[in-house]
Amino acid sequence: MWWPVGVLMRGKVVVKWGGGLITEKNQLCTVNRDVIHDLVETISICHEHDLDVILVHGAGSFGHLRAKQWRLNEGKIDPSNFTPDESCSTQEQAIELVRKDMLTLNSIIMEELTNADISAAVLPPHIWANGTGDNFEGDLTFFANAPEGIVMVTYGDVVSCDEPMGFGILSGDDLVTRLAIEVPNVKRLVFAIGGVDGLLRCPPQRATDDDLIEIWSPNIKFEGEHQQDIDVTGGIGLKAARGAKVADNGIEVMMVSGQHPQRVADACIGVETRGTKVVSNQ
Ligand code: IPE
Repeated sequence: MWWPVGVLMRGKVVVKWGGGLITEKNQLCTVNRDVIHDLVETISICHEHDLDVILVHGAGSFGHLRAKQWRLNEGKIDPSNFTPDESCSTQEQAIELVRKDMLTLNSIIMEELTNADISAAVLPPHIWANGTGDNFEGDLTFFANAPEGIVMVTYGDVVSCDEPMGFGILSGDDLVTRLAIEVPNVKRLVFAIGGVDGLLRCPPQRATDDDLIEIWSPNIKFEGEHQQDIDVTGGIGLKAARGAKVADNGIEVMMVSGQHPQRVADACIGVETRGTKVVSNQ
């Protein structure tokens, strides 16, 4: 029997697990395995609701610290700007180390997925993407054509860039933007973030429960903590901006605390939950 494509295709959700959520951001290469374990459960819940998942994870302490020290987000820089240390003496070595650390973080996530009986395939961006920002070049068809029930995984990474830069940091927030917009049948984009319930009206240290912005569009001011001294990508501001762009394309966008897996699951399956819904400017 012949079925029209639309009938056969399951809906998809694109989920970003923030690096500040799945790692200890200030301690080099320290993973929050319990958090990852709980988040994996939310993928099973998506499958139970007939939703396929594209999973993108951040770097946290497996990426930002060394990338910052070796200014990998700025591309090739004169070697005289750097002081070699015991583990690394050039930017080229730093690229290799960060890519290796990201593969290590990813392998922990893949292991947790396997332990939960979830089949997954990873496509590391340094193999298939070129350039940074949300107009990077790269073929997204592998994500679009994944068989039902297979979680396609990718992550923020050091990628090649055109000269004179040579390389740069492609954020998971840029990856989710393109994946949510360009992969057919994506229903929602969910950012699972660490430390906050969503976008806040005042700095997180001062915020009370009432300071959560429940519906945000780019014309509303918010206060996000961006650890410029650690981060080589855009922090919560980048997520908000990219989220609005995705919402512009008619896709639901939610930011929720990843420390509450139920909220992540609810956001993925489209049940109202505590967090920030990102909408385009009205
Ligand atoms: C950053 O990716 C990648 C590297 C620093 C290698 P993200 O921008 O997606 O990471 P998080 O979520 O901020 O940690």
